[in-house]
Amino acid sequence: MNKIEDIFIHGRSHNDWTSKEVPENLLHELYDIMKWGPTSANCSPARIVFIKTNEAKEKLIKHVIESNIEKTLSAPITAIIAYDKKFYNHIPKLFPHNPEAKDWFSWSEEFAEMTAFRNSSLQGAYFIIAARLLGLDCGPMSGFDNEGLDEEFFTDTEFKSNFICNLGYGDHSKLFQRSPRFDFDEICKIL
Ligand SMILES: Cc1cc2nc3c(=O)[nH]c(=O)nc-3n(C[C@H](O)[C@H](O)[C@H](O)COP(=O)(O)O)c2cc1C
Repeated sequence: MNKIEDIFIHGRSHNDWTSKEVPENLLHELYDIMKWGPTSANCSPARIVFIKTNEAKEKLIKHVIESNIEKTLSAPITAIIAYDKKFYNHIPKLFPHNPEAKDWFSWSEEFAEMTAFRNSSLQGAYFIIAARLLGLDCGPMSGFDNEGLDEEFFTDTEFKSNFICNLGYGDHSKLFQRSPRFDFDEICKIL
């Protein structure tokens, strides 16, 4: 398969996992690819927790909806893609040619959080693309209680969860038939 097929044409959202482990060095590789994706003023608000141990999984599934429990327990890794509401404090490091850019976001909590959510969602997409490039399969999910999960994993921080993503080697024999997508003419315009 070529890369376009790996990432988009045949890349699927997985619910069932083989027992093949995901080595930790692959998680480092994944991050070292996704981190280069663009964000507003390079603000990079995503924060990621890779849940691997049984103990951490048990804490996680308390906050996941019933239909997402089994797929989460059987995945080798579940990543929490979160964002830092105070991401702008790191702008001087990340945007060194204009450290004042911090003020573009820090003037309004609401604007900062919208920026963090937007850019961490983009970074979540870069995460999925990087994982697929590395031969991993993903199962992104928003079916969980964000507030409960945040209390469990992010107390005493300014982090908030965006979505979670199971990671591993999917059992392709258990995939549903693929759902359709819009055609170009249905949702695109060239003006
Ligand atoms: C942000 C997001 C949230 C999702 N939440 C769930 C979920 O809670 N449970 C679930 O089983 N699938 C969830 N999905 C999977 C989608 O249903 C799936 O990506 C979509 O149907 C496309 O499937 P395909 O990638 O196999 O074509 C989610 C996907 C995304 C991107």
